[in-house]
Amino acid sequence: MDLSFNIQGGDFTSAGTASSQVRRTLKELGVDASVIKRVVVALYEAEVNIVAHAYKGEIVAQISPERVFLKLTDEGPGIPDIEKAMTPGYSTASQEVREMGFGAGMGLPNICKNADVFNLHSVPNKGTTVEITIQIS
Ligand SMILES: Nc1ncnc2c1ncn2[C@@H]1O[C@H](COP(=O)(O)OP(=O)(O)OP(=O)(O)O)[C@@H](O)[C@H]1O
Ligand SMILES: [Mg+2]
Repeated sequence: MDLSFNIQGGDFTSAGTASSQVRRTLKELGVDASVIKRVVVALYEAEVNIVAHAYKGEIVAQISPERVFLKLTDEGPGIPDIEKAMTPGYSTASQEVREMGFGAGMGLPNICKNADVFNLHSVPNKGTTVEITIQIS
């Protein structure tokens, strides 16, 4: 099953829509709660990163009996130094984004912790692609 979502940069009101829909679908499919939790945490962080840091993006969630594969592609500033961005506590979040409670610099480390496979590709001034795989069985 494939689910896809369009994400608008700056639209914090809608942030979390993709992760809640994926949560609902996995629940309906009877997927283990601990697996759902990991998927939702990783997807939510990646989704918020598009809202907080990029201009717009697309999320595709592929759900099979074996695994959940999430691909998030955005158009935005990209990440010039991925190693630095992965460091817990590192954040370039704007004052506005921080005032909404984001910007702890924990999103990417959290995605990494919850994913079985995590890939991050970015082209500065173009955009970022995040791929997350979480095994179901
Ligand atoms: N999709 C993206 N486009 C551009 N830059 C990004 C993207 N995702 C992450 N980054 C960069 O990597 C940094 C670290 O991301 P991370 O998610 O760990 O922290 P954060 O988003 O700043 O804060 P938090 O996730 O804790 O609210 C960001 O501050 C930003 O500089
Ligand atoms: Mg983040």
